[in-house]
Amino acid sequence: MKNNKYQAGVIGLSMGHGHCIGYRNHPNCELAAICDVDEARLNANKNEFGVALASTDYRDIVNNPDIDVISIASPDFFHAEHCIAAIRAGKHVLCEKPLTLDLAEAKQIIAEVEKSKVKFMIGQVCRYAPGFALAKRLVDQGAIGELYFVESEYAHNYNSAKGVNNWRVDARREPFIGGGCHAVDLLRWIAGEAYEVSAFANHKCLADWPVNDCTIAIYKFANNVIGKVLVSIGCVRPYTMRSCFYGTEGTIICDNTSPDIKICSKKFMAGRLDFASMPVNIANHNVSAEIADFMKCIINDTPVETSIYEGARTVAAALAAAESAKLGGQPVKIEQL
Ligand SMILES: NC(=O)c1ccc[n+]([C@@H]2O[C@H](COP(=O)([O-])OP(=O)(O)OC[C@H]3O[C@@H](n4cnc5c(N)ncnc54)[C@H](O)[C@@H]3O)[C@@H](O)[C@H]2O)c1
Repeated sequence: MKNNKYQAGVIGLSMGHGHCIGYRNHPNCELAAICDVDEARLNANKNEFGVALASTDYRDIVNNPDIDVISIASPDFFHAEHCIAAIRAGKHVLCEKPLTLDLAEAKQIIAEVEKSKVKFMIGQVCRYAPGFALAKRLVDQGAIGELYFVESEYAHNYNSAKGVNNWRVDARREPFIGGGCHAVDLLRWIAGEAYEVSAFANHKCLADWPVNDCTIAIYKFANNVIGKVLVSIGCVRPYTMRSCFYGTEGTIICDNTSPDIKICSKKFMAGRLDFASMPVNIANHNVSAEIADFMKCIINDTPVETSIYEGARTVAAALAAAESAKLGGQPVKIEQL
């Protein structure tokens, strides 16, 4: 704490730029340190935000005793290394999704969090997209009865999202975990835990990429809910995450890029089979709301809902789908963490 404000640092300044804005605008925070290995990007952000500490080495941020909270927005491969160093240095950590690309690393981070007193949040930012948050509230309130089928998709075109130095074009970066974790996490958040999955994949759109570019997975969720996730990283359409929630008393269709969600509910519509439109703000990368929620937990010392375990369970569910696809659709049990 300095000047009565939590001192924040951000590692990785592309997606991390949104984190810088979130801390800068938070009334209890000061953006005090930034890191990126790309000097030009580092300097541009240093000029924009006027931070005292700007370094190309994340250890300068992590080991600085003035820093209280760190966002990690480096490429997925570095999440474990950066998270563990920050936790060991006693910093609260907000890590971008996916937590990790494998479960061994996820478990190492869990062990560090459990040994420490720090707060840890996984940045599953879809939980802060207004349309999805409204859908979750409506389902929880029973507006569509008991869920029986849920679906979500991560439909993207990665030709324009290869990442700096093409880090996403890498066999280790399984798209179903890397991007698909958004859709898997959304369904876990709304429908409950996933136990088993069968998946099929193909590779027709991004021919020069070393990974399958389309995977469809069918999940078994708690309470006998069936779920479907489509992950396509080569589709010819604008990015969105169209998602549907089917209940015994109604249906919700929503996404993260539209100004409304659609609901057909026996309860609200006197039995008519029409969709009503409910307006929502469009904020599909609502990092500021995520940071506000994280800071509330730090300030009030309350549990983080989007916890390390949520991040790890989402990785486990996504990993199992990728494994099933490799086995030609054979059902795979999801490790319960
Ligand atoms: N929540 C979301 O919707 C969302 C969206 C995009 C990306 N992400 C996540 O954010 C992370 C970053 O993705 P991105 O799209 O910003 O990638 P990017 O390639 O656009 O940017 C990565 C940045 O990190 C820097 N960097 C690379 N290695 C580093 C290191 N060792 N130390 C410090 N900086 C380093 C790069 O120079 C670059 O500026 C990934 O984990 C990604 O999955 C999340």
